[in-house]
Amino acid sequence: MSNLVLVEDAEGIRTIRFNRPEKKNAITRAMYSAAAEALETGDSEKSIKVFVITGTDGIFTAGNDMVDFMERPPHVGGGDVPPVERFMRALIGAEKPVIAAVDGLAIGIGVTLLMHCDIVYASNRSTFKTPFVDLALAPEFGSSQLFPQMFGHAVAAELLLLGNVWGADRAYQTGLVNGTTPPEALMDMVMGAARNLAAKAPGSLRAAKKLMKRPPEDIHERIKHEGGLFNEMLRSPEFAEAASAFMERRKPDFSQFG
Ligand code: COA
Repeated sequence: MSNLVLVEDAEGIRTIRFNRPEKKNAITRAMYSAAAEALETGDSEKSIKVFVITGTDGIFTAGNDMVDFMERPPHVGGGDVPPVERFMRALIGAEKPVIAAVDGLAIGIGVTLLMHCDIVYASNRSTFKTPFVDLALAPEFGSSQLFPQMFGHAVAAELLLLGNVWGADRAYQTGLVNGTTPPEALMDMVMGAARNLAAKAPGSLRAAKKLMKRPPEDIHERIKHEGGLFNEMLRSPEFAEAASAFMERRKPDFSQFG
């Protein structure tokens, strides 16, 4: 694969980097396929505990490559699973935690994909824009449902109807991002959180994420599902290690678990 998507594994963290700065990291079909592959293989590889998705200096991504897009318009949900859909399915379906590190421009799917990450950190020079209506298109990948859920209808309309540009402060205030930092400190912030997650019990993280991603349901139904997973985890070797570590007054070591 070309170097337009760089994949690097270190300390249990797989970093997937959009690397096409001369085109503002606009994402082509080949890039979606490479990023999808990295997520799919990483999700089933025991040594990988966490994903980080990022871009390059000052550019997260300008979204879909417009040229590519016009050459082969993807019909998402149309049955043939275009690369963009494969990528978003891999992201939405990832059992392991995903952190996004946004520095600079995030446009279109560069914002949409953030909703499907678990944690988002952004540099304070970042900007966020979903110009779908401005391009005479429509919202994508659940954003028409998830944005109003996350921000309320009126605030979501700033992005999806007005096509406003949000700065990092607005993104933080609305809850689109978890934290902001000067650009030079971004990767430290992200890698700190990634290392923190990578050291946790992976089965427990998967269980918590799975529960958080369940659609809203009757609270008693939810309690039943939580109870099932809680009971499963109580019998797991991961819990045995956590309990022993507590009794022995040491830090648990979950590194052998995948
Ligand atoms: N698809 C394809 N190429 C893109 C692109 C995209 N989404 N975004 C930027 N580029 C390309 C430009 O065509 C240009 O290529 P060139 O140097 O060969 O002419 C290069 O990246 C630099 O972009 P440029 O527009 O010159 O930089 P800028 O700093 O003036 O503006 C943007 C940057 C991102 C604000 C502007 O390019 C833009 O609005 N892009 C479209 C973003 C968009 O609408 N994305 C949603 C798609 S659904």
